Amino acid sequence: MNAPLQARLNRRAMTVHDVDAVMAAETGAYSHPWSRGNFIDSLSAGYLAEVVTGEGVGLVAYFVAMAGVDELHLLNITVASVWQGQGHGSALLRAVQGHAAALGLGSLWLEVRQSNLRARALYRRRGFAEVGLRKGYYPAALLREDAVVMSLPVSLSPPGGLHGVD
Ligand SMILES: CC(C)(COP(=O)(O)OP(=O)(O)OC[C@H]1O[C@@H](n2cnc3c(N)ncnc32)[C@H](O)[C@@H]1OP(=O)(O)O)[C@@H](O)C(=O)NCCC(=O)NCCS
Repeated sequence: MNAPLQARLNRRAMTVHDVDAVMAAETGAYSHPWSRGNFIDSLSAGYLAEVVTGEGVGLVAYFVAMAGVDELHLLNITVASVWQGQGHGSALLRAVQGHAAALGLGSLWLEVRQSNLRARALYRRRGFAEVGLRKGYYPAALLREDAVVMSLPVSLSPPGGLHGVD
């Protein structure tokens, strides 16, 4: 990652004022993006949502997660296209793990498109296990696409990472 640039970035709660920038990144990152309403509803519902931004560089990344009884469900994690491949996704995932631990939640759950090999590899490297399949969970160009369900026991995942690296 570019260290001087990283030093200028900061992470904070997402607000409705971020939604225009979030939608620009969302539509650039996915074939089937969330709608503006999905983000507004998530904020209204009080879901945990944060953005990574930087002075003069705009929105870099964001996530939305929903706390359950003993788990944090990661609903959306996205790095804006031009910022991908520079470690921001890994860093944000560590931050999400930190939130789950701070909230005393036992595990982190997410769904990911079966075809999203890059994201699945990232999650596996972070210690997630592939624990199930939701048939036809996502819209797709022709038919629907299955989701791989992944989970991570938070007690085993300090924010510094399972292997103390990255
Ligand atoms: C998936 C995503 C969040 C990962 O964030 P990122 O900032 O691009 O990823 P990082 O730079 O932290 O890299 C994570 C790993 O992917 C690898 N990677 C980065 N760019 C890659 C590329 N173009 N192709 C393959 N692997 C790549 C990195 O080498 C790194 O591997 P490492 O952990 O062994 O070093 C981001 O790419 C993204 O938002 N993609 C589109 C939306 C999406 O798929 N979200 C997840 C939905 S579940």
